[in-house]
Amino acid sequence: MLVCHCKRVHCRVIRDCVREGALDADSVGARCGAGTGCGGCKPMVQKLVEREASAVSAPPPSNDVAA
Ligand code: FES
Repeated sequence: MLVCHCKRVHCRVIRDCVREGALDADSVGARCGAGTGCGGCKPMVQKLVEREASAVSAPPPSNDVAA
């Protein structure tokens, strides 16, 4: 999905930025330009950052089998 129409940035690019260490909308903007035009998409960029950051930091499912 195209999130930033000014800079033509898709949501997958924003998710990649978060995985590479961008943890807020400004950091994402510095990496890919999202939110650096009119600014109208910044709330959506921030929401994507928060969602992706929590998904990245969540522990992987355990494969332990109770003995
Ligand atoms: S739509 Fe992203 S800066 Fe304008």
